[in-house]
Amino acid sequence: MNKKKIVLAYSGGLDTSVIVKWLQKNKFEVITFTADIGQGEEVIFAKHKAKKMNVKRIYIKNLKNEFIKNYIFPYLRSSIEYENFYLLGTALSRPLISKELMKISYYEKTNYVAHGSTGKGNDQIRFELGFKYFNPNINIIAPWRVWDINTRDKLLNFCIENNININKKTKKFSIDKNIFHNSYEGGDLENIFFEPEENMWENTLSNQISIDYPIYFTLTFKNGDLIKLNNNFYNIEELYLKLNKLGSISGIGRIDIIENRYIGIKSRGCYESPGATIIMFARKHLEDLVLDKKIFDLKKKISYDYSLLVYNGYWWSPERIMLQNIIDYTQKYVNGVIKLKIYKGVITIINRFSNNSLYNSKNSSFNEISEKFSQFDSSGFININSLRIII
Ligand code: ARG
Repeated sequence: MNKKKIVLAYSGGLDTSVIVKWLQKNKFEVITFTADIGQGEEVIFAKHKAKKMNVKRIYIKNLKNEFIKNYIFPYLRSSIEYENFYLLGTALSRPLISKELMKISYYEKTNYVAHGSTGKGNDQIRFELGFKYFNPNINIIAPWRVWDINTRDKLLNFCIENNININKKTKKFSIDKNIFHNSYEGGDLENIFFEPEENMWENTLSNQISIDYPIYFTLTFKNGDLIKLNNNFYNIEELYLKLNKLGSISGIGRIDIIENRYIGIKSRGCYESPGATIIMFARKHLEDLVLDKKIFDLKKKISYDYSLLVYNGYWWSPERIMLQNIIDYTQKYVNGVIKLKIYKGVITIINRFSNNSLYNSKNSSFNEISEKFSQFDSSGFININSLRIII
């Protein structure tokens, strides 16, 4: 019988390695795709592991630049977290991986794809909405939802039985890494009383050992996007890496949170996103300076909906694109330079400059007389606005 070809989104991690074996046992010819989105040496490991498992073809693609340019930066323009804290680092990578994986399924002329996300999380939805957007006729195999290896312990046993080696840390947590963040879930973190051990965090130094002097630097933004660090241009990948480095040595960007998954489960996760945390902070300060009050207000409201769309997997939806266009429109004002200080996990603004600044000290001053209005007029403003309340 002719084996069916299937393209698997392969990270090289525990779950997807097991899936390679499992698909092969279930008579598929497995082709792996590993997106290099800045997860580091894991990409090389993925290649070696796939080779060892007799994968038919191994695709690896460097997508770091595209990830920053077309996913991270557009999201950062919204200046919003998912719920209270989460910066969406995993959610942003899935639509890109989906798109690239569908390209490969097209080259390989197969209608079968697979991913390693469980039936409990968000990533299954993000991947599959992406797959279906690019090919409505795609057949998707999500082993976690169908096989009988339904716990992490059974998974570890499957590895032992099938000679799949696992590193110590993957045993402890489920980790997702890219240039934007490291995220940790599962293992001891499932107990919400548990304080993560220091060596879980890979991307940032703790404040006990972070650099013990403040670092000052400027960030320059054009149309909302970061273009310079300390007045130097770099390509976006270098720029992003430099900022990650600065944040990392100063202990910036760790969070330990509970979030609501799309399907309605609450989960606990730890994230470290040093560069993104800094950019977000600087951008918010710049927007405060340049955005018109009403534009600011409307943007803030739609950004909340936008964050839900990104989190819930609707990157490739008409409504996400519509909101993105509105957000992007507001960014024509977001030009300027923000000077920051980072020290022991804290970011502080030092000063801000913009040619689009709407701040005029004459208007707000306690000492000067405003040019464009008289305080006398405020009595009328309050009289009219209080009318409804008095009545
Ligand atoms: N909860 C995050 C999200 O849904 C991260 C998911 C992946 N992280 C992981 N450690 N497995 O975006």
